[in-house]
Amino acid sequence: MHIENSPRKILITGAGGMVGRATHAHCRALGDRVWAFDRQALDVTDEEAVARRFDEIRPDAVINCAAWTDVDGCELDPERARRANAQAPETLARHCRRVGALLVTISTDYVFDGTKNGFYTQRDDPNPQSVYARVKLDGERRAMQACARTMVVRTGWIFGLGGKNFLSKIVELAERGERLKAIRDSWGTPTYADDLARRLRELVAVDLPGIYHVVNSGEGASYEQFAREALTLAGLDTQIASVSFADLQRPAARPQNSRLRCLLSEAIGLAPLPHWRDALARFVAAARAGK
Ligand SMILES: NC(=O)c1ccc[n+]([C@@H]2O[C@H](COP(=O)([O-])OP(=O)(O)OC[C@H]3O[C@@H](n4cnc5c(N)ncnc54)[C@H](OP(=O)(O)O)[C@@H]3O)[C@@H](O)[C@H]2O)c1
Repeated sequence: MHIENSPRKILITGAGGMVGRATHAHCRALGDRVWAFDRQALDVTDEEAVARRFDEIRPDAVINCAAWTDVDGCELDPERARRANAQAPETLARHCRRVGALLVTISTDYVFDGTKNGFYTQRDDPNPQSVYARVKLDGERRAMQACARTMVVRTGWIFGLGGKNFLSKIVELAERGERLKAIRDSWGTPTYADDLARRLRELVAVDLPGIYHVVNSGEGASYEQFAREALTLAGLDTQIASVSFADLQRPAARPQNSRLRCLLSEAIGLAPLPHWRDALARFVAAARAGK
């Protein structure tokens, strides 16, 4: 599929986060006019502030990277989770409709319960198992209802510069001499924030509403496989203790398998993102270069 990436006026929310920063950098590199707001500059739960920013900027497209991503925290404070992850996408969608902008909003592989063998596609019914997952699914639906020009992007297992999750920190933890543990029997499709950012911007150009699953290609990985590959690429021989999914005692349930595949991207001829091992090699090199 040929993608016409002419410069646009793009408003990015959650621009202080891992995906928000990568998306900001990518859009700027493409020559877009970008307004990238972190939480201090634009709290997406504050409807008046959202309305004001939309009136000032009149964006062509909004890429919503804001979310409360503390999965265990959401379990303990469902109301805050609902405001940030369900109500805010609807508010953004409503104002996108008002100013004639396209909305691209990010959702999660956690909308699925994890019991399927194989890859989850758009044909699979969501069955969220945690507060975080339920409010993210609600956010998808409310956004699509409020603005017909909404593209929902489900993704998962994101790693990238500045990321605070296990996948992003594994090499740094090993270099600090920390003892490492990784789950051997939980599977996902790793996604490099830089590759996701590129695809988010391509989707702005595609401008076709629907639910997209965006992940790096390949067969997916367990946390342990991903961690071992990251350490090999970094030239480290740190030991990793292998633990089982069942041993994990966390406040919020996680899906044991949340690998994603995108029927819609395939149908419209979007090229698959690079293999996750290739993406991980680029990430390890970028982290090493101190970028
Ligand atoms: N990381 C993953 O593996 C993963 C997997 C699946 C889906 N996702 C989705 O991907 C998207 C991006 O996540 P990420 O990994 O980049 O997470 P992140 O690093 O936690 O970034 C999220 C950003 O949103 C901001 N935010 C929170 N509440 C806000 C509010 N009310 N108004 C404005 N900004 C607010 C946060 O700011 P503060 O830090 O100041 O609160 C943070 O900078 C989210 O929709 C997430 O649900 C992530």
